[in-house]
Amino acid sequence: MATSSLEAIRSASPAILPSLLRCDFGDLKGELEKLSLAGTKALHLDVMDGQFVPNLTYGMPIVEGLRRHTDLPLDVHLMISDPLAYAKPMVDAGADLLTFHIESVQPGEAIEVIEAMKELGVGVGIALNPETPIATISECLPLVDLALVMSVEAGFGGQSFNTSALEKLRVLRQAYPELLLQIDGGIDAETIGDARAAGCDLFVVGSAIFKQADYCEAFDQLRSSIQKVDHSQDQGDLGGRQV
Ligand code: DX5
Ligand code: ZN
Repeated sequence: MATSSLEAIRSASPAILPSLLRCDFGDLKGELEKLSLAGTKALHLDVMDGQFVPNLTYGMPIVEGLRRHTDLPLDVHLMISDPLAYAKPMVDAGADLLTFHIESVQPGEAIEVIEAMKELGVGVGIALNPETPIATISECLPLVDLALVMSVEAGFGGQSFNTSALEKLRVLRQAYPELLLQIDGGIDAETIGDARAAGCDLFVVGSAIFKQADYCEAFDQLRSSIQKVDHSQDQGDLGGRQV
């Protein structure tokens, strides 16, 4: 399930991944239905422990509950101080992709965490906050399936987009053409275009979906911004020639 889910995410890209942080937790099944109708290809689950970040969200029971009601790939963003301790419980609960923060592990420990997570048969991602330089994840990059560039400080939805993420995406795209690149934080119909132009594949979106009553409309706006960038890049590739 997990490896094929990673492939499903890869083949769906560019893809919008709704972040279930600001959804209606009293009606998760209803939220799943609305997101499926809007055409979501995967779900982004923000797990926070109140230690690594000053916010507390949810853990395995929510992942497991969602798993029982959807076949969509579950992309679990671990904002916790001991990601390895919860890796197996998260996989048992139904996670397909586990992304942990480089800032949450000791220097030199990241490779061990990546290898242990890979042994669980899931996709593995490495995340970095806006202030963290790319150099801190350089030895991880050849080993992971995905790099998550945070465009806000991890911990809360609804923050403003930090443009430092764009340069990181450009550098990563250039060095690793095949690596899945994900961005998370402050993504809306405007910032998503900049992230796409910088080479991003997967766009995590919280507020810009959940503050709208109509998720289909929210997805359409986001998709159309991505398509505009892709279209203008295609035109650029053709040297402006009309075909
Ligand atoms: C922040 C989380 C994000 C967050 C995004 O730490 O990782 O996934 O929910 O929310 P918005 O889109 O509102 O910035
Ligand atoms: Zn997230």
